[in-house]
Amino acid sequence: MRMVDLIEKKRDGKELNTEEIQYIINGYTDGSIPDYQISALTMAIYFKGMTEKERADLTMAMVESGDQIDLTAIKGVKVDKHSTGGVGDTTTLVLGPLVAAVGVPVAKMSGRGLGHTGGTIDKLEAVPGFHVEIENEEFIRLVNENNLAVIGQSGNLTPADKKLYSLRDVTATVNSIPLIASSIMSKKIAAGADAIVLDVKTGAGAFMKSLDDSKELAQAMVNIGNNVGRKTMAVISDMSQPLGFAIGNALEVKEAIDTLRGEGPKDLTELCLALGSHMVYLANKASSLEEARQKLEEVVNNGSALESFKTFLQSQGGDASVVDDPDTLPKAKYVVELPAKKEGYVSEIVADAVGTAAMWLGAGRATKESQIDLAVGLELRKKMGDFVQQGESLVTIHSNQEDIEKVKEKLYESISISEEKVEAPTLIHGEITN
Ligand code: URA
Ligand code: CA
Repeated sequence: MRMVDLIEKKRDGKELNTEEIQYIINGYTDGSIPDYQISALTMAIYFKGMTEKERADLTMAMVESGDQIDLTAIKGVKVDKHSTGGVGDTTTLVLGPLVAAVGVPVAKMSGRGLGHTGGTIDKLEAVPGFHVEIENEEFIRLVNENNLAVIGQSGNLTPADKKLYSLRDVTATVNSIPLIASSIMSKKIAAGADAIVLDVKTGAGAFMKSLDDSKELAQAMVNIGNNVGRKTMAVISDMSQPLGFAIGNALEVKEAIDTLRGEGPKDLTELCLALGSHMVYLANKASSLEEARQKLEEVVNNGSALESFKTFLQSQGGDASVVDDPDTLPKAKYVVELPAKKEGYVSEIVADAVGTAAMWLGAGRATKESQIDLAVGLELRKKMGDFVQQGESLVTIHSNQEDIEKVKEKLYESISISEEKVEAPTLIHGEITN
């Protein structure tokens, strides 16, 4: 087989077969096929697309390029959740303990964040003592015992995707639906999930800004998952404004605790119940989505969801007293309100711009090397559709720097106030189940 012939085949819009895709991915992983040929191929894919079969083959070739996590020692159907990423997306912190309390085993492999706020691990590390450096055997034992554990990403998970993603980043080929879908799905499958619930975000703060693109990406991922034997479904949720109120690591831990107690923001609570119901249902812990939802509401109301969070934190070295006393979480030196310049209805809170403001405070990483400040971030006091008086606070800023003029300016630019009444945006734009 010659790589140049395969590039030509794709350039002319023909379908690559399983062996050809394996040849490409194996050769790229071991270095025998150079970057320039893969660049040409990804550009051809960008313009010509990939068939359903090619997407499944590409996904599995990337899965097989490195370690695959074996979760067979964990009893039950392992369901993973993946979000395509948004601003202040606190759902993972809530969903783990929430579905664990209903008996769904959650064996989560997580990473650190780049951009707006930290990843799940960064957020959890706001809890004093909590760590994810545990052995595989310990990880499995904890999931069997408590239904929930989080471990750091294995160094050799889907190395082909790692190389390909970096190359796409500098060759203007990130934005290709078949490549994005297989990239995301390869990581979930290698991490051992039997079933996958996808939260595909749409709107200004999302990777996919338009609803049509978000639906297409969701459908592409659902097809890949189901074609390779993992039950997969997707919820398309709104990211025109940040989710919940909190954006920032310790602030989001506190928000997750409030939500597990049944006192969280309405949108975050609703999205967690929607995603959680699908997880419970796919794990065969309920015979319908309605029954799944009832079970989730029950564990919130009777306190067992919160209890499950405490057990989880404790078993990985964390100080579980933060759950009853969130004041022990890291705190910022300065807490400053951002007053509204005029009265009216909040008509826009541009999610990615607000995320950038949080990153400037230190809540996220501008580059892979940046240090995160776990204490800082933003708490929205108003959401789209809310009425605000002049001088009333729009946002509470938690900062460790005294000079936050740039942050304030960015926030004023991202939040619009209109005289006319504005409706809150729809939270869930659709579901794709097969
Ligand atoms: N996220 C991924 O993991 N892969 C992509 O290709 C795009 C976003
Ligand atoms: Ca949030």
